[in-house]
Amino acid sequence: SNLHMFVDELPEIPRILGYELVHGVPKSKSLTIGMFKKKWKFHRDLPATTVYAYGLNPEEATVPGPTIEALYGVGTHVTWENHLPPINILPWDPTIPIALTVAREGIPTVVHLHGGIHAPESDGNAYAWFTSGFRHKGPTWTNKTYYYPNNQQPGNLWYHDHAMGLTRINLLAGLIGAYIIRHPSIESPLGLPHGDEFDLPLVVFDRSFRTDGSIFMNSTGNNPTIHPQWQPEYFGDAIVVNGKAWPRLTVRRRKYRFRIINASNARFFRFFFTNGLRFTHVASDSAYIEKPITANETLLGPSEITDIIVDFSESKSEVAILANDAPYPYPSGDMVNEANSKVMKFIILPNEEVDTSRIPRRLLRYPDASLSHATRTRYIAMYEYTSATDEPTHLYLNGKPFDASVTETPKEGSTEVWYVINLTEDNHPLHIHLGLFKVLDQTELVDPEIFKDCMTKLNDALKCHVERYARGKKVGVPAHEKGWKNVYKMMPEFVTKIVVRFSFIHTNASYGFDATAKPGYVYHCHILDHEDNAMMRPLKIIK
Ligand code: C2O
Ligand code: CU
Repeated sequence: SNLHMFVDELPEIPRILGYELVHGVPKSKSLTIGMFKKKWKFHRDLPATTVYAYGLNPEEATVPGPTIEALYGVGTHVTWENHLPPINILPWDPTIPIALTVAREGIPTVVHLHGGIHAPESDGNAYAWFTSGFRHKGPTWTNKTYYYPNNQQPGNLWYHDHAMGLTRINLLAGLIGAYIIRHPSIESPLGLPHGDEFDLPLVVFDRSFRTDGSIFMNSTGNNPTIHPQWQPEYFGDAIVVNGKAWPRLTVRRRKYRFRIINASNARFFRFFFTNGLRFTHVASDSAYIEKPITANETLLGPSEITDIIVDFSESKSEVAILANDAPYPYPSGDMVNEANSKVMKFIILPNEEVDTSRIPRRLLRYPDASLSHATRTRYIAMYEYTSATDEPTHLYLNGKPFDASVTETPKEGSTEVWYVINLTEDNHPLHIHLGLFKVLDQTELVDPEIFKDCMTKLNDALKCHVERYARGKKVGVPAHEKGWKNVYKMMPEFVTKIVVRFSFIHTNASYGFDATAKPGYVYHCHILDHEDNAMMRPLKIIK
């Protein structure tokens, strides 16, 4: 693309409080947030783009949507309303498992709060979709208003669309937003940078645009006789942060906190600063880590979140470019090009600043995941199916389509060990709804081909194979990723061992809602093009 970089200011994303103060006491709040079709300027020199945007009303709707700020222990009710006219702005594919196969009957949408611990009826099940005015509804749809108890660790979540077979398209169109849970009494004493100027979400994604401003998405599939439109991964050339392509931000010589969300369909980012500035990690997706970890770069798969402190007073130059050098697809693909190797520019003011914020030696500690509590071990295999021409046709978990009956049924409150066996050449970010997990290690498979025969046989067959063939090199988990996660990067031809807790890790109490209710939860690859076709499986919690 010929667009100039760093010509637009980083936009301020509007914030919406998910609580209200009644005589100074926080009380739960009911919000109505709509999805609107509107025009959005992604770049000074690009005509406005038609997008789908979340907002309180069409005028205030933005890409990304407003940041919802919630308080620990104070619930938020949200009525999500679909106001989208029936003609899709992007191509789609009726041959993959999909919400609605008829065109012009409405755009199916359903909202998932990613990282949230809430009841299944509020989880945004892929088949709980609805069209404008709730005219058409999916088979697992139950209620218009979702309830988020916010009864979990303070941290970074995000909300986004999750409609069956349309997630990759609805997110490309703009249905993305940040959600922060704050717990002031335990967070304020940490002394980290705070306030709207010094603590901000950065929602990063890649997009390609045509010269008329419209979002470019290939309308022909890689395997069109099987899937006329579906492509195995979407990659765009422009890097968009908070709704502008390659924006710039003028900063003071002091510490800032950035909550970076990789909201791309398929792109991994390996972020670093061109002038050698470093990141200090304080949290990951969902939760704080125990101690701050300083690093030169950070690798973020789709849907992962990193929460970092950058101290611009340490900069020797007046400009710092946030850059990216992750190949795509990751890690087997091409190297980045000039356009997608730059993210945004920071212009650092020359004056010295008084900075009273600090990075404490210790952050927040949560109960550990103990292997001795694990009551169940599961083996989950990731596999890509190809056509005669060796082009990907679909991806499954354990050789099963999404609609096959549920096989993962953890007990409420239990801890499980999962071995995730990635038999593909690419890294897949695995996301588990409701559960939080710790990554223990990743071990290379000495003969990944062997697994391919027992793909559909599940636990026992996979188990003996893991015991026999997972004995290559071991890769440790980087220090800043050792905390609680809800999504993690599964290395190709490795087995990743994780310990998952399906309970309230903060208080160890019960959920306070019925996690066993219908329609249950899901787990899936968060490369959206994979999730849609159909690298996703149901997850049912049982008593
Ligand atoms: Cu961020 Cu099931 O999704
Ligand atoms: Cu995947």
